[in-house]
Amino acid sequence: MTRVISEDVGRFSQHYPKLVMLVTAQAKGKGNAMAVAWHTSISFKPPLYGVSVSPKRFTYQLIVDGKEFGINFSPFEAAELIASVGGSCSQEIDKFQRFNIATSKPVKAAVPILEAAYAAYECKLVDDRGYGDHRWLVGEIVAVHLREETFTANAIVALDKVNPSLYLGDEHYLTAAKNTIRRLDREVYGKR
Ligand SMILES: Cc1cc2nc3c(=O)[nH]c(=O)nc-3n(C[C@H](O)[C@H](O)[C@H](O)COP(=O)(O)O)c2cc1C
Repeated sequence: MTRVISEDVGRFSQHYPKLVMLVTAQAKGKGNAMAVAWHTSISFKPPLYGVSVSPKRFTYQLIVDGKEFGINFSPFEAAELIASVGGSCSQEIDKFQRFNIATSKPVKAAVPILEAAYAAYECKLVDDRGYGDHRWLVGEIVAVHLREETFTANAIVALDKVNPSLYLGDEHYLTAAKNTIRRLDREVYGKR
């Protein structure tokens, strides 16, 4: 295989597929949802989650105003919902109405929690920093919502019950193949 090295970084989507989720926010009586592929957990104590959001997104303004955001993991069967909220701006439409998005009540933060999500985090904004053309928003998770049956006793996603939504880039979505799961204990493998 020919290895190509380039200083032209381009859109650098070589690290995909990524789990894609929906960030929700609410402020001044307006709620919204957007698709986000750039996100990660940061810390256990306190429980911190980071999302990379362009300041051009209307959702960014809502998060800055409301100081809270929601992280919603929806199944692959709802990938069209991800493409819909990720392809529209809530300055022009009410996405909840247009795409018929059902929400459930939050407990600690005033953010919409998506009914379709198999897991969701309510977050309080603790930091907002600019890196290049995106803002790195850090939220402290103050409540977790989950569909119990979609997680194993060891708190991992039960792939026989739910298909996570992965994003490959260039508008392509996929899910994880359960027949590829291998349990490789780090304690055992680290000592080989
Ligand atoms: C699969 C997918 C992943 C996306 N990931 C991000 C992301 O990580 N950060 C970001 O700022 N925008 C991301 N977007 C773009 C926003 O979701 C999109 O611009 C959306 O329309 C913003 O809505 P708003 O203006 O109502 O906030 C993504 C879009 C798609 C379809």
